Amino acid sequence: MYLKMENQSAQKDTYILAVETSCDETAAAVVKNGRKALSNVISSQIAIHTLYGGVVPEIASRKHIEAVNPVIKQALADAGMRLEDMDAIAVTSGPGLVGALLVGVAEAKAIAFAAKKPLVGVHHIEGHICANYIENPDLEPPFLCLVISGGHTHLVKVTDYGRYEILGKTRDDAAGEAFDKVARSIGLGYPGGPKVDALAKEGNPEAIHFPRAVIDGAPYDFSFSGLKSAVLNYLNSCEMKGEEVNRADVAASFEQAVVDSLVSRTMHAAKETGYRKVAIAGGVAANSAIRAALKTACEENGYAFYYPSPVLCTDNAAMIGSAGYYEYLSGVRHGWDLNAVPNLELGNDIV
Ligand code: KG4
Ligand code: ZN
Repeated sequence: MYLKMENQSAQKDTYILAVETSCDETAAAVVKNGRKALSNVISSQIAIHTLYGGVVPEIASRKHIEAVNPVIKQALADAGMRLEDMDAIAVTSGPGLVGALLVGVAEAKAIAFAAKKPLVGVHHIEGHICANYIENPDLEPPFLCLVISGGHTHLVKVTDYGRYEILGKTRDDAAGEAFDKVARSIGLGYPGGPKVDALAKEGNPEAIHFPRAVIDGAPYDFSFSGLKSAVLNYLNSCEMKGEEVNRADVAASFEQAVVDSLVSRTMHAAKETGYRKVAIAGGVAANSAIRAALKTACEENGYAFYYPSPVLCTDNAAMIGSAGYYEYLSGVRHGWDLNAVPNLELGNDIV
């Protein structure tokens, strides 16, 4: 059941308890008025998934079940608040791993039911975008947001709070997937993104020319699978010729190709839309080369640039609390039939 109530008054402070379990982090946070994270607790499963070279969905679900109650308790304690003080419970209901999402959704429903609090389902990507509101009190829509995560690569027009228009998306791999696969191919292991980021700093970004894909008739769409294959081909050909691979150069040259693809489309979109504000979001937005390149490009073109701290780029619940606040404020309420939707599209109402 999905209800849209009349607009709430924003007179008094509003506190949201948010829960996020869409992938491999069990997270809970208390967020005040959508902008201030009073607590942000993240229990990472990285250590266990590292043993398998990537996220194992079944293990992720089991670990969420173990962690979710202590993490929520800690989030309330860190904020110095009680469940009774909350105005609503927000939870990621999609997209993500279905078993992982279900843990958070079932938990949030149980808490909301027991404490007689409204329940608000949140889109995970909307959460990533709203991470920008937490540390930038002056940021208000409209703005352009480049969302780059492990599962998504979207260029989004944020036309208003809770209103999104997707200008472009990836045709194949997400940016984070490309980072993780390239990391694996050069023996860096999981999680790949931060490791490529660190190693690339020691390499030459112009040492190897990897392709930057362009898609005919879709200037804002991305493609990273050709780049990933080009890296694999390069590694294979070095092996066949008995040449030693400079892994730092591979990491830096790959990263540069990603940077160029992201920056060119984002700047093009900013020019075409006339938006003067550009934000980034998602785990890959923690990448130092991408942050630096977009910052420079925005400065050169006179756009304001917004980026969350690295801890708010990767999965967390503070971002869900912010998104949940704006949905709550616009009157969104979900029923006890709220479900986990693994392939939920951004821009569709959660039902
Ligand atoms: O947003 P996120 O935490 O989870 C999803 O919603 O997918 O993104 C995870 C992705 C992973 O692919 C990870 O390798 C990548 O973000 N990532 C990075 C960095 N930190 C995390 N990629 C590049 N550089 C980083 N510093
Ligand atoms: Zn995410």
